[in-house]
Amino acid sequence: MAVKYTVPRGTQDILPKDSYKWEYMEMVFRKVAKSYGYQEINTPVFEQTEVFERSAGDSTDIVQKEMYRFQDKKGRNFALRPEGTAPVIRSYIENNLGSEGHITKLFYIEAMFRYDRPQSGRSRQFSQFGCECIGTNHPYYDAENITVFWTYLKTLGLKNFVVEINSIGCSECSETYNTALKDYFKKFIFLPNNEISDLVCPDCQTRYDKNPKRLLDCKIPKCKEISKEAPSMLDYLDDKCKTHFSEVQKYLDILKVPYVINPKIVRGLDYYTQTAFEFINYNLGSQNALGGGGRYDGLIKQMGGKDTPAVGFAGGFSRLLLSLINENSFQGDCPRPKYYIVCANDSSANDENVSSKLTKALELLIFLRNKGIYAEFDIEKISLKAQLKNANRLKAHHVIIIGEEELAKNYLTLKNMNTGEQTTLDFDKIDEL
Ligand code: HAM
Repeated sequence: MAVKYTVPRGTQDILPKDSYKWEYMEMVFRKVAKSYGYQEINTPVFEQTEVFERSAGDSTDIVQKEMYRFQDKKGRNFALRPEGTAPVIRSYIENNLGSEGHITKLFYIEAMFRYDRPQSGRSRQFSQFGCECIGTNHPYYDAENITVFWTYLKTLGLKNFVVEINSIGCSECSETYNTALKDYFKKFIFLPNNEISDLVCPDCQTRYDKNPKRLLDCKIPKCKEISKEAPSMLDYLDDKCKTHFSEVQKYLDILKVPYVINPKIVRGLDYYTQTAFEFINYNLGSQNALGGGGRYDGLIKQMGGKDTPAVGFAGGFSRLLLSLINENSFQGDCPRPKYYIVCANDSSANDENVSSKLTKALELLIFLRNKGIYAEFDIEKISLKAQLKNANRLKAHHVIIIGEEELAKNYLTLKNMNTGEQTTLDFDKIDEL
């Protein structure tokens, strides 16, 4: 029996009926990111595993459970990129992209890989857009970075989304908060006889020891219920972090980006400091984050670079497309021929006129295509009826007809397929097309 191959679970083919949608989302992102001074960077699909272990954090789900790890023929450890920030920072350090007193703004559109249970809005290979603003800890840039994302969604025409922001403090206030969280969660983790309880999930039991903040991020209902009453990070911010957070809000107000404060945002990666934010579409179900990001002032030093502050975000194209389609906001145009050339071209008729018409059609076709215009002609469709039917199938904007009369008098007939309006154009003036 013939083998039937299918795509690996959690991955997808982007077919021609959809590829233009992705191209459109990417094109708008490039345009918006560039208008904010971001320049494109591309890093390899795989990196040394340590690049992610040292940045995302050893105890995170991404590193613990979701990385595609492999060894090359020399036994070196690599991982498929699960996120874009660590590779960008690796490249920033390796290529000396920063210069003293200047900000480096980098954007990317790249495939990421996470081994997770596939569901709507969550795949094992997915494409992210992201912007990293490196070299400043001024709170304006947190707000500006959020504004890039916001402007992108607005430019695409998305209506249903909310910007949620939080501050998770610096390493010092984070420490005090972790202690407060552990105090709160202790009674749910341990029974009075000090044995482990089952009031929280096994993952949360590990989080309690390794990274208490992540207890707030658990999606299991019983854990979510418990975390409702947990202390708020915002009550544990020191003066410096409090000021930074209120400055970010001030700039968001000036930039006219609406937001809500959600003290429960902790993010799934360990490198964040102070500002953390997420773009949420509540209609998306459980995978409702269109994207997220925050400040990561310690990461560059941690990865071997100079002590350099930075802030960034990444979003997922698949969730974005779902959102746009769900609310009927997708604005990109499906590619349609601007001109579809129709001519009686029955070469078997052995008629001189037929071959002249065909030559004219092909000359016109190449002329239009050389101008970068999407023009179509099907040499195998002989009858005019079949050619017109094809023009309709492809939703051509105009049909150009080259018939006997046109050939004799050296003009072409142009039919607007939307209005049905018909005009003529001298063949010498085809530059006007
Ligand atoms: P993240 O929150 O892990 O952040 O991912 C950002 C976005 O990527 C998510 O909000 C979601 O839209 C999309 N995404 C994540 N996992 C999947 C998946 N399995 N399937 C489909 N889409 C997914 C980061 O990756 C950070 N690097 C963001 C950042 C940049 N922070 C600072 N700079």
